[in-house]
Amino acid sequence: MIKATWLGHSCWTIEGGGHLLIIDPFLSGNPLATKKAEDIKADFIVITHGHGDHVGDALAIAKRNKALIIANYEIVAWCQNQGAQGHPLHVGGGAAFPFGRAKLTIAHHGSALPDGSYGGSPCGVVLEMGGKRIYHPGDTGLFYDMKLIGEDGLDLAFLPIGDNFTMGITDAVKAAKLLGAKVVIPMHYNTFDLVKADPEDFKKRVGKELPETKCVVLAPGETYSL
Ligand code: NI
Ligand code: MN
Repeated sequence: MIKATWLGHSCWTIEGGGHLLIIDPFLSGNPLATKKAEDIKADFIVITHGHGDHVGDALAIAKRNKALIIANYEIVAWCQNQGAQGHPLHVGGGAAFPFGRAKLTIAHHGSALPDGSYGGSPCGVVLEMGGKRIYHPGDTGLFYDMKLIGEDGLDLAFLPIGDNFTMGITDAVKAAKLLGAKVVIPMHYNTFDLVKADPEDFKKRVGKELPETKCVVLAPGETYSL
């Protein structure tokens, strides 16, 4: 069993098998965050791309917890240069970790790091943990290869719905259809004025168009167990 907790925006903690992994730990400066970076105890940190609202507090959390950063090669090198530990992956590649497995996927977006350094290609990640397969697409527009990402079976997919910088609701419903995940949970909305969206509208449309997919809407701080 695993527990996925939404900390607002694209930040999730996933707990399972005695491990705690945090994805895109944007807490300081995140108006929706329900936890402070200082209170995060994580073994592993996944960063999907270089933007500040995804790298967030990764360096501080990594150094304090001696956590391992998992991201593309360029982001991991940037973190290592600042004293954090990392394991570099790149698009299409995965590796085994004590919690299970992580594999990077494509994403259509940018990836400049907060100081303007080159952050490589933006990515999504497929995680295998506690016998479940979870997809976090990072920031991306809709792409047809989501069908391929879903082919091995997904138990859970987080989907950005905020529009403007990523998919909006209409495309996120199409993404849910291509992925075929058993459960979808919206993210990357209502953090800022530019990404305002109604998650209940997303849920309604998933319910109508994809009766076999369960859509769960969480409030920041809430947990979904599977
Ligand atoms: Ni971004
Ligand atoms: Mn973003």
